[in-house]
This record gives sequence, C-alpha cells and structure tokens, in this order.
Amino acid sequence: MNLVLTGSTSGIGWETLLALLPHFDRVFLPVRNQSKAEKLIQSLQGKEKIILIPMDLSLMAEVKKGAASLISQCDEIHVLINNAGGMYPGGKCSEEGIDLSFATNHLGHFLLVQELLPALLKGKARVIQVSSEAHRIAQNPSKDFSLKKSSNTVSAYAIVKLYNILFTKELISRYSSEGLTSYALHPGAVRTAFGSEASAWAKGLIAFTKLFFISPKAGAATSIFLATTPKESLKNGGYYKNKKLSIPSTLALDSQLGKGLWDFSVKEIGRVLGNAGPEKQEEND
Ligand SMILES: NC(=O)c1ccc[n+]([C@@H]2O[C@H](COP(=O)([O-])OP(=O)(O)OC[C@H]3O[C@@H](n4cnc5c(N)ncnc54)[C@H](OP(=O)(O)O)[C@@H]3O)[C@@H](O)[C@H]2O)c1
Repeated sequence: MNLVLTGSTSGIGWETLLALLPHFDRVFLPVRNQSKAEKLIQSLQGKEKIILIPMDLSLMAEVKKGAASLISQCDEIHVLINNAGGMYPGGKCSEEGIDLSFATNHLGHFLLVQELLPALLKGKARVIQVSSEAHRIAQNPSKDFSLKKSSNTVSAYAIVKLYNILFTKELISRYSSEGLTSYALHPGAVRTAFGSEASAWAKGLIAFTKLFFISPKAGAATSIFLATTPKESLKNGGYYKNKKLSIPSTLALDSQLGKGLWDFSVKEIGRVLGNAGPEKQEEND
C-alpha cells in the first residue's frame, strides 16, 4: 500500500504521518523544505519507507516536476492526502503570478491529482482534502475564481477551503465510476504553525485564539480516520468533522460551481505551464 501526503513537515500533517507510517509499505512526502524534512524523519521508526519529493505546491512547474519524479517511482497510489496549506496575505502572488492562497491550497493540489491520476486510478485511491469550517463564510467566487480581485486574507482563505470541498465532489463526479473515492474534512481548530505566513493582524488574531485550540494529534484524527476506515463505511464525496459526516455550506454543494472551478483550474495551469498543462497534454496524447 502506498501513501502520498502533503504538508507532513508540521502540525496536522506531521501527526498524520506518525500515525499512518506503520500502515503503508511506501510513503511519498512532497515537501518544499527538504532539509527540514530530512531532519524531522531522521529518528522515525520506518523512515526507510519514506521517499521525499521536492515540491513547492504554490509553483506549478515544481508540482509538475515533483509529480513526474513521484510517478516514476510509484505507479499505484492507494491514499493521497492533500493536507498542505495555510493563510497568506490577501493579494500576494507566487512567482508564477498566481494568488498564493489559491496556488497553495487549491491549484497545486489540483495539478498534483491530474499528474498522479494514472497511479491513483490504478490504486483505486482515496483522495482526501484537508478543508476547513472557514469555507462556510466564503462568498460566491464564480466571478473571480483566481482570487486576484480579492485582497482580504480571511475571505481568500475561506474561498480556497470551499474549493477543497468543490474539488472533492467534482473529482468523484468524474472518476468514481473508475473506483476513485474522495473526501474532505475539517480537522478542528488546531494549535499548529498555521497562520505563520498570514498578514500581521491575522497572525495576531490566530495567536490569541490558539489558546483554545486542540493539539495537532487530535487535529489529525479525522484525516487518519478517512485514510484507514473501510470505504464501505464512508460516504464517497462526504465532508467530515470529528470523524463524522457533516453537511457543508450550500455553495459547497453547488455542482455548477465545482465544474466552473475545475474548468478554470485547467485553463490557469495551461496559462502558466503552456504546452505542459494537463489540457494540452491530453490533446498531445
Ligand atoms: N490549524 C488549524 O486550526 C486548521 C483548521 C482548519 C484547517 N486547517 C488546514 O489544515 C492543513 C494543515 O495545516 P496545519 O494547521 O497543520 O498548518 P502548519 O503547521 O502550518 O502546516 C502546514 C504544512 O503545509 C506545508 N506547506 C505550506 N505551504 C506549502 C507549499 N507552498 N508547498 C509545500 N508545502 C507547503 C508546510 O510546510 P513547511 O513545514 O515547509 O512550512 C507544512 O508542512 C491546512 O490545509 C490548513 O488549511 C488547519
């Protein structure tokens, strides 16, 4: 059994890794800071099963390159947990000119799934998105999927966490007939490094509220539950919190919005990567 887990070098992802490592034969960790990851895994029992893949999820060229390296080492994936993410100052863009919240929390993972698709389908994988209850305050993004016009840190975060659920649902509408399952989850309000790259006022607010947050280990519980519970006991496409099925916002259930986000994401990757984007790739096959 093979696992791919993003955002394993801190907080919820690290605790998810510790719990899941014994359950898998090989564990692929896309990481943006390789030396940090190397130090962290050094003393882990079972570290020989871990393969680090250099990948900054906010940079599509890196995602594409990292995914190619991953798939050259593994043609069958059973679980993919899209956990990496965070809150970034509204309006801040990546080197590729993509809003950083959009790129890190959504587009990088979207591209990762596209690139790993043959291995995900071969493994009849479950693809798990770490979303947030913050999705409930999201405004309808259909006029600006890219978030370029939004310059508010919190509202951009709410929208990208909405995207995690829309992506989950659109993914199963396209691939469940081929055995793929997908879930989204809220981990709880968790005491992690979350928010360390946010704007100053958002950082201050998070630091204060962290006093009341749960531990990273408790925050990883729903991710671990969705990765290990028999699929027959889970709802494909479901949104979970506290290891239980929950009803997300009305916007998160809007399948037209999900389709619009998917189409926009394909176009945006094509714009950034040119001929190397997923749409062009299909045409070239
Ligand atoms: N904490 C909460 O209360 C809470 C609540 C709801 C949802 N969530 C969600 O839970 C997930 C995990 O967050 P956390 O609380 O565990 O935060 P965290 O401690 O800050 O961990 C975030 C992880 O994502 C990685 N990451 C961030 N940007 C990346 C990039 N561009 N490329 C590759 N990796 C990147 C980080 O890598 P580095 O180690 O290199 O920084 C780190 O491993 C996020 O999706 C977050 O939105 C958290």
